Amino acid sequence: MVATRELPALGARATAAEVRASFPSIESPAERFRHTILRTIDGLRQQGYDHAEALRALFPRTILPEGTYDDLVAALVAGAHLLFFGPSGAGKTSLAKDLWELFPKDVWVVESCPVLDSPLSVVDRAVASRFPPCPICRRRFAPGADLARFDPAAVDATQVPAEFVRLREGYGFARVQGSSEVFPDHLTGNINLRKLEEVGDPMSPLVLEPGKLLQANRGFLLVDEIGKLPLGTQNVLLQALQEGTVTPSKSRESFPGSFVAIGTSNLSDLDNINDPLSDRLTSVHIGFNDRHADNRRIVELGRSDEAGTFLPEILVDAGVRVVEAWRLRMGDENPDIGEVGSNRTLIDVSERTAAIAILGGRPIPSSADLRSGLLHAMRGRIRARSGDSFRQNEKRVQEFVEQYLAPALRRSAGVYWCRYYRTVLKENKGEAEELVGEGRRLKDDATLAAGLSSDGPLFPRFRGFSRFVAGRERPGTGIAATDASLSVYRLLEEFSLFSCTEEDNDDAPL
Ligand SMILES: Nc1ncnc2c1ncn2[C@@H]1O[C@H](COP(=O)(O)OP(=O)(O)OP(=O)(O)O)[C@@H](O)[C@H]1O
Ligand SMILES: [Mg+2]
Repeated sequence: MVATRELPALGARATAAEVRASFPSIESPAERFRHTILRTIDGLRQQGYDHAEALRALFPRTILPEGTYDDLVAALVAGAHLLFFGPSGAGKTSLAKDLWELFPKDVWVVESCPVLDSPLSVVDRAVASRFPPCPICRRRFAPGADLARFDPAAVDATQVPAEFVRLREGYGFARVQGSSEVFPDHLTGNINLRKLEEVGDPMSPLVLEPGKLLQANRGFLLVDEIGKLPLGTQNVLLQALQEGTVTPSKSRESFPGSFVAIGTSNLSDLDNINDPLSDRLTSVHIGFNDRHADNRRIVELGRSDEAGTFLPEILVDAGVRVVEAWRLRMGDENPDIGEVGSNRTLIDVSERTAAIAILGGRPIPSSADLRSGLLHAMRGRIRARSGDSFRQNEKRVQEFVEQYLAPALRRSAGVYWCRYYRTVLKENKGEAEELVGEGRRLKDDATLAAGLSSDGPLFPRFRGFSRFVAGRERPGTGIAATDASLSVYRLLEEFSLFSCTEEDNDDAPL
């Protein structure tokens, strides 16, 4: 029974009459999405988030430039279908997945309807004119199973079984990977003629093989690399976006295909999206982040699965700065090297650096490991064409890393040291000198350093520094806090010289 407007439990069953009593109207997927977004933002605001923070929190796995969130949310609230375009590895697919996470997934459907018709579509004329039920349901609930005689007003709502379900892949969510091999059938689906002979009923669920557009009905469609779809396939998608209907191949009947569509495209394929389809999609540029802290956060998110290897923050930070410098100087226009500065590369640099250290038997990666990590990750993102241009681009990457790694390390070490010097040491020069002196004695004397693991009065400043490093960087169980802090100390000594100047500003470009 559905007694209140409280949402029922998943899998709950009821009749269309009961559903109508509790939920007398239905919304399109875009309307449901809009309400969920507005409600979520409202909830976040009540928890004390400001406007920008609330928008950001809607997409927890994708870090984008601030203005992008405004464009994106405004388009969604306006009920638009979207096209994310921008350089490779900027987060288009990741963002589309975040959107699907956010999408409201719990809906009432007619039991065993292959395209998840709403029970109200079957029993309510007004709803049916907006959201016509599929021919399978029309036939099922028509007098004498005669499609032509279907009339929602005449259907006994107490005889229409409904189920409360969660949309999932194939049922309210479909994903298409664009390529020249994706033919219209793949989106529209088929009527299976062999099954038709067996079953004899053209509208049996066994006979219809729903294509991606029917699978997405009432939910969400993601078309990755939309410009790579052949034109005929793009037209099928266009029809669904215009009319909300889809005609499977070999079928005389149209099925509902109503969903929120998100397409993605990299810059080089934008011209292949045909104009009428393009006109139906609101374009949102997904670019790289300018703010250093945002790029750092992308690495944190990307690496969080793979805990266990300790990579000193100074190295992570310097790796990010080198890639940022590449973006500033090389841009993302040249497709052969457009991805060298991508967010994927940001994450790869840290992962490669850690991997290279492990292979070399070093429990804590060094600045030389970072250099190799940068070369591996950045070179690996050059698009291989002719041997010559590939080698030329490799050389560019190599020269770039040689030129920018040391300044990046100096900036990262400077920022790290300043943070300690200003917050913990309260800019006390005497304390700083004592700490540097203690570090010098410890760094080359394993016996002395081993003594630090027990409590004691010796090396009080270095112990304080060690606590700071351990608290901030959480080296994990495999690495002793002393080893972690000594490795950080060495990086500071080599690259910051323990000086803190105005230039050691987190966000300033190299
Ligand atoms: N803006 C971002 N925020 C967080 N992570 C990101 C971001 N961009 C990329 N990533 C990380 O990089 C990976 C690749 O990104 P994604 O596949 O979303 O890029 P894309 O723009 O779709 O690239 P392509 O054009 O090559 O398909 C993601 O899985 C994610 O880990
Ligand atoms: Mg993608």
